[in-house]
Amino acid sequence: MVRIGDRMPSSSDKRVVAVYPGSFDPVTNGHLDLIARGAMIFDRLVVAVSHNLEKDPLFDIRERIEMLEAVTFDWKNVEVEMFDGLLVEFARAKEARVILRGIRAVSDYEYELQMAMMNRKIEPQIETVFMLPGEPYSYLSSRLVKELARLGGPIKGLVPSMVEERLRTKVS
Ligand code: PNS
Repeated sequence: MVRIGDRMPSSSDKRVVAVYPGSFDPVTNGHLDLIARGAMIFDRLVVAVSHNLEKDPLFDIRERIEMLEAVTFDWKNVEVEMFDGLLVEFARAKEARVILRGIRAVSDYEYELQMAMMNRKIEPQIETVFMLPGEPYSYLSSRLVKELARLGGPIKGLVPSMVEERLRTKVS
């Protein structure tokens, strides 16, 4: 149980680091929207790219990180890193107090709830914070973007332009 007064930040402990984890295969404009929102609220935002994907990624870890680094370059409080293993261990190593996740629709909620509760059980000091992406991105996912690209559908405006080019090359 968390009691009022538990882990109240001291005056030297006010910088809030958040970790934003995901597969980012590839990064979409929805992810970028969330990164922009997170970067405005948290002092430091570490975008944590999962290395160990059960699903076979289209882009390897190096490509996913490269694209994220390029499209987040302008945010000075945002960094991109790879992580392997337990997310909360990575977050602890970064001295993060927050795990940031986006929720698009009610359908995301069940999975996100399970993950947040499990992470809280492993590490009660780290809080999961959910944010809503902008409305135009509420239906957007990396999976759908990849499917569209494979089938020759329009992906303009759904991903940053460098990702659009890489996707087209990858699926051609
Ligand atoms: O973009 P995704 O695929 O929804 O991201 C899922 C991710 C990478 C955040 C999640 O699978 C994860 O945290 N993996 C790390 C392993 C872990 O810590 N598992 C226990 C949490 S329930």
